Parts: sequence; C-alpha cells; structure tokens
Amino acid sequence: MVHIVRPMNQDDVAQVTAIDRDAFPTMWPPMNYQRELDNHLAHYIVIAEEIEQSEEHIDRVEPEGGLTHKVIEWLTPHKQGKEHPQKIVGFAGFWMMAGEAHIISLAVKKEFRRHGFGKLLLIEVVRSAVKLEAEIVTLEVRISNYEAQRLYLQYGFVGKGVRRAYYTDNREDALIMTLDAADSQDNVTKFDQARQILKFGV
Ligand SMILES: CC(C)(COP(=O)(O)OP(=O)(O)OC[C@H]1O[C@@H](n2cnc3c(N)ncnc32)[C@H](O)[C@@H]1OP(=O)(O)O)[C@@H](O)C(=O)NCCC(=O)NCCS
Repeated sequence: MVHIVRPMNQDDVAQVTAIDRDAFPTMWPPMNYQRELDNHLAHYIVIAEEIEQSEEHIDRVEPEGGLTHKVIEWLTPHKQGKEHPQKIVGFAGFWMMAGEAHIISLAVKKEFRRHGFGKLLLIEVVRSAVKLEAEIVTLEVRISNYEAQRLYLQYGFVGKGVRRAYYTDNREDALIMTLDAADSQDNVTKFDQARQILKFGV
C-alpha cells in the first residue's frame, strides 16, 4: 500500500467532507471544502492511499496471453496518464496571512488513527507553511481535546492563551497553541528529520 501526501483537489472534496463531518460532528456551520479550494489564502493537503489494481482481476477479465498487456493498459488508469483510484486517509489545511499560518483543520479517518498519520499531516503542514514564508504556525484546539493537544505539544507547539466560549455548539473554550520561529533552522531541521523518521514512503 502506498501513501501519498499531495494538495487537495476537486476529486477529494466528498471524502474530505465526510472525514470532517465524522471528526467534527457538532461544528456549525460545517466547513465548505469546495469553497476552500477557491480561497487563495487556504492551503490543504491530503494523505491518499493508492488502491493498487490486482493483476489477478485483470487476468480474469482478459486471459488471452497476447492481449494481457493491452488489457492492463486499458484498465490501469496511470498507464493512460491518470492516477489510481485513491482513498483519503486524512487531511489538513491552513490559511496563510502575513507570515502566520493558521491551521484550520486537521483530521484522520477513524479507522486509520494511531498509525502516525496525524503526525505526518502536522509535519507536512508546518513544512508547507514555512515554504510559504510562515514565521509562526498557530491553531485553536478544544480544551477537552487532549489527544490533539498531545500531538501539537510533541512538535513544539505551546499554549499561548484561551479563547473563551470559542466553540458555538457547547461554548467550550479553545486553547491557542503556537509554534514560534517555525522557520528557524532548528525547526526546519527538526521537521525534516521527523518526516524521515515516519518512513511512510512519501
Ligand atoms: C488528533 C488526530 C488528528 C490524531 O491523528 P492520529 O493519526 O491518530 O495521530 P498519530 O497516530 O499520528 O498520533 C500522534 C500523537 O497524537 C497523540 N494522540 C493521538 N491519539 C491519541 C489518543 N487516543 N490518546 C492519547 N494521545 C493521542 C499522541 O501524542 C500521538 O503520539 P504517540 O503515538 O507518539 O503517543 C485524530 O485523533 C483526529 O482526527 N481527531 C479528530 C479531529 C481532531 O480533533 N483534530 C484536531 C483539531 S485541532
């Protein structure tokens, strides 16, 4: 199985929306990812799992030896210049404003959690933001969202304050967490190394 980190595109919107709805069911209004694609401040990435087409299936469809190669070419989209069908494992996005990257969303599909995909998304978001000249990376996280806070703490984000009753569904407070000097040489090296360690083959 191959995992690819790439920018979100039109074909991903339905799957990303479904992951978002499952991860943030009480969020209102729900995020409109179709609109986010047109938002010039927004940058979204997805982790996609390539579903490799089985040669067994291809053989069954066209068992004639001489024709097998052609059948593979017709049935395998990448040979026609398209990509394999891809399942979205998780996604993340940020808005870039005046040297500050604000993480808007980060979520991993439930059945893929606790395999390091959340870390990979965070690492890739920070690296992308720094490439766009972000000096700091910041976000809000629910006070009760201990799992996500642990993830951010692991990568150097620190609590910077609280936004009272930030979440409209239950008036829960948000903790502001920020990675300062995201573009420092130390941090760039740290995030590059962290990406290597994950070894996702991306
Ligand atoms: C938060 C979230 C993205 C983590 O994704 P994930 O793929 O499970 O995360 P990883 O496997 O990469 O784990 C990263 C770290 O997060 C923390 N973490 C994740 N799940 C945890 C859990 N159930 N309990 C405690 N810590 C947890 C740990 O620090 C973990 O590192 P470790 O495995 O070295 O201990 C995922 O739980 C999710 O999508 N949650 C719903 C959406 C959400 O809350 N997003 C954050 C909004 S601010």
